[in-house]
Amino acid sequence: MALRNILKEGDETLSKRCRPVTEFNDRLHTLLDDMAETMLNAEGVGLAAPQVGVLRRAVVVLETNVPEGEDDRVIELVNPQILEADGEQEDPEGCLSVPGSYGLVKRPYHVKVRAQDRNGQTIELEGEGLTARAFCHEIDHLDGHLFTELCDHILSDEELQAYYDKKERQ
Ligand code: CO
Repeated sequence: MALRNILKEGDETLSKRCRPVTEFNDRLHTLLDDMAETMLNAEGVGLAAPQVGVLRRAVVVLETNVPEGEDDRVIELVNPQILEADGEQEDPEGCLSVPGSYGLVKRPYHVKVRAQDRNGQTIELEGEGLTARAFCHEIDHLDGHLFTELCDHILSDEELQAYYDKKERQ
């Protein structure tokens, strides 16, 4: 496994639409392994292939809704699509390609996703809260979109602090 360089906002690769993965080979497995390592190293909760310069429809998401005492789990989604979305959440959202910036983004609270695993098997899974947000955010990357297109502005340090202070009081 190896760390890959994460492209930053402004790199035109990030605004391109990715092509489906058609070959479930060692090259894909290495890509997914490297993406997981790169995401964990950067302390992110999701990473899409275009962020490491690969224009293919593959993402990794960190599932943090795990039973007490268990480790967070890396989910790999190849050629993912959202089947169902319901509920709503609005929270500060960030991106490893836009480091240090957060904006308020509305996302569904719960989503159901269909994808393929690294061997090409069809899988269906559900995410809620932060995981649902990450599924939506990463799939947006595959269509060349960043969260900055969905928020009205990048929060200042004061706004972000005020947001978390308010959350804490609730
Ligand atoms: Co991102």
